[in-house]
Amino acid sequence: MNDKYIDRIEAQDLTKEPPTEEPDRQYYFMKKCREIVKKKSEELGRPLTCSLTSFGCQMNARDSEKLAGILEKVGYELTEDENADFVIYNTCTVRDNANQRVYGRLGHLNSLKKKNPHMKIALCGCMMQEPSVIEKIRQSYRFVDLIFGTHNIYKFAELLVNMFETDSMVVDIWEDTDQIVEDLPVERKYSFKSGINIMFGCNNFCSYCIVPYVRGRERSRNPEDILHEIESLVADGVVEVMLLGQNVNSYGKNLEHPMTFAQLLREVEKIEGLQRIRFMTSHPKDLSDELIQVMKESKKICRHLHLPLQSGSTRILNAMNRHYTKEQYLALAEKIRKEIPDIAITTDIIVGFPGEEPCDVDETIDVIRRVQYDNAFTFIYSKRTGTPAAAMENQVPEAVVKEGFDRLLKVVQDTARERVSRLEGQVLDALVEEINEQDESLMTGRLSNNTIVHFKGDKSLIGQIVPVYLKECHGFYYLGEIWR
Ligand code: SAH
Ligand code: SF4
Ligand code: F3S
Repeated sequence: MNDKYIDRIEAQDLTKEPPTEEPDRQYYFMKKCREIVKKKSEELGRPLTCSLTSFGCQMNARDSEKLAGILEKVGYELTEDENADFVIYNTCTVRDNANQRVYGRLGHLNSLKKKNPHMKIALCGCMMQEPSVIEKIRQSYRFVDLIFGTHNIYKFAELLVNMFETDSMVVDIWEDTDQIVEDLPVERKYSFKSGINIMFGCNNFCSYCIVPYVRGRERSRNPEDILHEIESLVADGVVEVMLLGQNVNSYGKNLEHPMTFAQLLREVEKIEGLQRIRFMTSHPKDLSDELIQVMKESKKICRHLHLPLQSGSTRILNAMNRHYTKEQYLALAEKIRKEIPDIAITTDIIVGFPGEEPCDVDETIDVIRRVQYDNAFTFIYSKRTGTPAAAMENQVPEAVVKEGFDRLLKVVQDTARERVSRLEGQVLDALVEEINEQDESLMTGRLSNNTIVHFKGDKSLIGQIVPVYLKECHGFYYLGEIWR
């Protein structure tokens, strides 16, 4: 798989002008960048190193794999050590704490760069789509060499060459794009599983959320491109794919030949050798009966549905622009449970949205108790500049938010423990993912329903699907034993 990209890079003729067509243009710049990196590493007498950190969601993680693919092809050695020749942060701005982490780490990078002046620093991702952020970096973080956004990430090779050819900060941010560039190199984090973008952007404009502003309008990839990508991943050893989109349930609406997400899933299911299919995220307002049917009939789609609730109060949901009521959400969850009884449902919840009162938190808690989530990610509302909610006057005082958050978290933990423990004593298949971080004698695997299980084993099992006896439930995860 890798050689295909190298051949394409080698085929470029640098004595000519760069091609105008994509992705050829980027292969031209990859070749140019390769020469620059080679020359620099000859001067230093060692390979050039690069450290790439991804913040935020699975989309960003997948984008980072694309950046890593190009970095590797142009000759960088990827390292975990931030004291590297090139440091990149792929940023997130969904909540303010994500931004603060980036600023904090930039301060540290500045001190590293002072000791190592040839170090290059690049920033990209969602945070860079905010004009106020760019302003701040231009003023207070002038040691940054390259800044680009979410829409022109495919131009990374070209931007790298620009960075090497100028001494001043290179900034290239686009407001939006309708382009999707296919066939660029990717370097996967895991050999046996992979995320696949099926769509980009979001059109929902939930009133608290900045994603539509930084990721642009919704665009679906062509099904042929998606299927072709999955087929080649499977040929390369991938057994599990995660189809990625901000709202996968609206996949395909704007294609030249429109198709539904459920129809796409039916096609993915047919790919031989592929064993597990996951997807993220499903907006409850667009979840169709057809999707429930496809999940029910499927042998490959995992028994897990992430169905963000955000709030259980219809009044708050309305202000959030979510387009469903508490009752509609509950009815949907009930329908899913009835059709697919063994499914795990997980969710996202925001506490402290403007105007939220303790009685609204009670409504959310009521939904948690009734739906019985296997897990819920709970977030404190974060005010995002430019979103409608940021301009609302009734922002909730911190102490009230904290009280509601703690109360809700306790219910989430208690119900999840009870729900997850229902599998105790069963033997279920787990995809072995990695060596346990705390205890090297244990391996970590994932059940179809997304629950984690740790068990004795060795790393030769990584990437295999093995039956595991679920011995003891510890809250959100299990300790188990391989079943032979
Ligand atoms: N597209 C996905 C969510 C992407 S963002 C969906 O609609 O489900 C992931 C989660 O971050 C959201 O589900 C929401 O719970 C949370 N989130 C988004 N904006 C937020 C904000 N301003 N403050 C707190 N949490 C937020
Ligand atoms: Fe944000 Fe709503 Fe779009 Fe999800 S669906 S990314 S929460 S605007
Ligand atoms: Fe963050 Fe961007 Fe994802 S804002 S959550 S990295 S789409």
